[in-house]
Amino acid sequence: PLRYAVIGNPIAHSRSPAIHEAFARQCGIALQYDRLLAPLDVFAETVADFFAQGGQGLNVTVPFKEQAFELARSHLSTRARLAGAVNTLWMSEGHLHGCNTDGVGLLADLRRLGHDPNGRRILLVGAGGAARGVMQPLLEAGCGHLRVVNRTAQRAVALQAAVADALPGHASVLSSGPLSEAGEDWDIVINATSGGLAGQAPALPVAGLYAPGALAYDMVYGDQPTPFMQQAKTHGAEHCADGLGMLVEQAAASFEIWHGVLPRTRDVLAALRAQLR
Ligand code: ATR
Repeated sequence: PLRYAVIGNPIAHSRSPAIHEAFARQCGIALQYDRLLAPLDVFAETVADFFAQGGQGLNVTVPFKEQAFELARSHLSTRARLAGAVNTLWMSEGHLHGCNTDGVGLLADLRRLGHDPNGRRILLVGAGGAARGVMQPLLEAGCGHLRVVNRTAQRAVALQAAVADALPGHASVLSSGPLSEAGEDWDIVINATSGGLAGQAPALPVAGLYAPGALAYDMVYGDQPTPFMQQAKTHGAEHCADGLGMLVEQAAASFEIWHGVLPRTRDVLAALRAQLR
């Protein structure tokens, strides 16, 4: 069968094999999808070996997305170029190609949840790779305003400037600042900080952050509501979601790149959620 894998370090707990195998069954495609642990200092060699041995495609996860971007530098999608990171690699006509499906995955999940970004005021918390990777799809989905706030304010300001530079048509709806100047009345607040992994929610202002009917969305997921989701509930967010749906949707977008067919995600997400509990 065609061989695919997710590459990262650590990788043992990745759900990607289960997700891609479920999509493949659904679409009647025979494939093998493995977990590939790359030593931190030989990512490029591990990728080269995989494709040399006939591998068809790789998903890339922490901490290699920026290195994958470098490897595919001469054949990047627009999404990948703006994200500065690659989560999907494949060979075509002898060249390594890279795309980033995290942003479109988030977008699909927001729509699934009934919170289409079109015309909405969105607060993006965090200014690292995870935040950067989702800005273009949110802007292109027509969000009314996109504000980036970060613990280190300068990083948010720099990110705003970089995105405004790359997408000048959207510059007027962008703003940035420190966590303490997060503003009020947001329709969607997205947590793209890595603090949740250590049990921490970002230090956002308590009052007025969430508009009526707002969604608090955490890009990480877990078997329990995340620290950010718990904080959002006490701060008055009506709706909360974790990033499991984004994981499944980004996988679906990668699957479409490789196989030319976009799988249905609903049942796969439900099964994954049941396994987490
Ligand atoms: P990633 O690629 O996952 O985004 P990163 O580039 O290391 O990883 O960025 C991590 C993000 O989480 C940053 O925005 C970071 O804030 P700083 O730029 O100030 O470091 C944010 N972050 C991590 N821990 C946090 C915490 N406890 N509170 C608030 N923000 C936090």
